[in-house]
Amino acid sequence: MTHEDLISKALEARKMAYTPYSHHAVGAALLTKDGKVYLGCNIENAAYTPTNCAERTALFKAVSEGERDFTAIAIVGGPDNQEELPICAPCGVCRQALNEFVDPESFEVILGTNDPKNYKKFKLAELLPLGFGPKNMSFLKDYQ
Ligand code: THU
Repeated sequence: MTHEDLISKALEARKMAYTPYSHHAVGAALLTKDGKVYLGCNIENAAYTPTNCAERTALFKAVSEGERDFTAIAIVGGPDNQEELPICAPCGVCRQALNEFVDPESFEVILGTNDPKNYKKFKLAELLPLGFGPKNMSFLKDYQ
């Protein structure tokens, strides 16, 4: 799966975004180690706080179907009335949610646009430096 292919899938996912309040539509495509792709879009709510970001929609879909190993996520986002998209970085909550299930030093975050060749690529560790993760809680295995 090339970066361009994964971005194309995120663009497809973005078409499903439910954004009557912000009008900011986001799509995500999460790649598993064995090559499966889980799609997600943002899903807003009249009460605002129940809103779920595209990245977490994809992650929760995948984990709820038994996936635990991921290598990359592509993200695209921008105003829901335009096809031309700027680079859209994941929010802090989504960075943290992803950090639970991936190796932040190797997991790739691909920030796409409407032009599949125009993207930026980061490791999760670059976007979430000094992240708090499962290792911080591993003391629990010896806890009396
Ligand atoms: N949003 C995402 O889906 N992903 C992000 O990482 C940033 C923000 C959504 C949430 C909300 O529906 C809209 O974009 C505006 O914040």
